[in-house]
Amino acid sequence: MTSVRHFLTTLDWSRDELQQLIDEAGRLRSDPIRDDLRGKSIALMFLNPSLRTRSSFEIGAYQLGAHAVVLEPGKAAWGIEFEPGVVMDGEAEEHICEVAGVLSRYCDAIALRAFPLFQDWSQDRQDRVIRALAEHASVPVINMETIVHPCQELAMMRTLQDHLGPPEGTRFGKKFVLTWTWHPKPLNTAVANSALMAATQFGLDTTLLIPDDAYRLDPQFMEAAQRYAEATGADFEVTSDIESAYAGAHFVYAKSWGALPMYGQPDEEAKLRAPFRHFRVDEAKMAMTQRARFSHCLPLRRNIKATDGVMDADYCVAIDEAENRLHVQKALMLKLMNP
Ligand code: CP
Repeated sequence: MTSVRHFLTTLDWSRDELQQLIDEAGRLRSDPIRDDLRGKSIALMFLNPSLRTRSSFEIGAYQLGAHAVVLEPGKAAWGIEFEPGVVMDGEAEEHICEVAGVLSRYCDAIALRAFPLFQDWSQDRQDRVIRALAEHASVPVINMETIVHPCQELAMMRTLQDHLGPPEGTRFGKKFVLTWTWHPKPLNTAVANSALMAATQFGLDTTLLIPDDAYRLDPQFMEAAQRYAEATGADFEVTSDIESAYAGAHFVYAKSWGALPMYGQPDEEAKLRAPFRHFRVDEAKMAMTQRARFSHCLPLRRNIKATDGVMDADYCVAIDEAENRLHVQKALMLKLMNP
């Protein structure tokens, strides 16, 4: 029996494998309509809202000849229990064991969006929901955002290479800044975790700009970033100094996230965050860079995370990155559903 390859986190994929997907995405951009997945199907399970992920996966499957079925457990599909061994006397009508088994008979891949519950990080950091699906599925499982967002990573790296060119070597030879931004609510760390993984795995000199040590990312990602930096010979630093972070940057990536030491305590976290509204990307900060490109995964609150001036500037490539979600996910579906 051959083992099934999943796309749960890029930590399980080599840089060469990811680069192959990024290269294939470039080819699919110039030649978008293919028939390789004719007669195949993918289930897209959303436990949380989406604009880009849902539309890019549905349209991408269609452009490859496949069918995508969208399921919203707890809304237009039965609620699902993901924990093993529980007495199911709550809201969930069925268990992931049966859901994964049934969808594996119908489909050639299953994709899932399951945000963390924002109650207990020691639980959420294990990413148990998507891991339970992968354990019980007999077809590839794709992560559409849990505590990481690996499809966004691919799109970010496709976009970065479109604008900065391919890596000069193992060390990319460009400076990448991942800046925390203020937001009225504590958000998921997934995109920040993923941006840090992608930047360091691809050998970018990476600066993580945070206003306070409480905004450090989970050790599993900080340590992976350190390992990647050591392997590529690139720099990796964490700073709260805005000027030195932006100085000489070639790519600025913004994201807001909640402080992990105050996970599940939004009122306390809001007090910590209150003085840091100036961690917003504006024209003056971008002027400190080496004519950097700016991007964000979207959705983005204008004039909160980044100013109108930044979002409307020629150097803002957030829409390019959103487009690239389509191309990289098509490359991923081709790889996993048509091995
Ligand atoms: N960036 C992203 O995943 O967008 P959606 O939440 O709209 O899918």
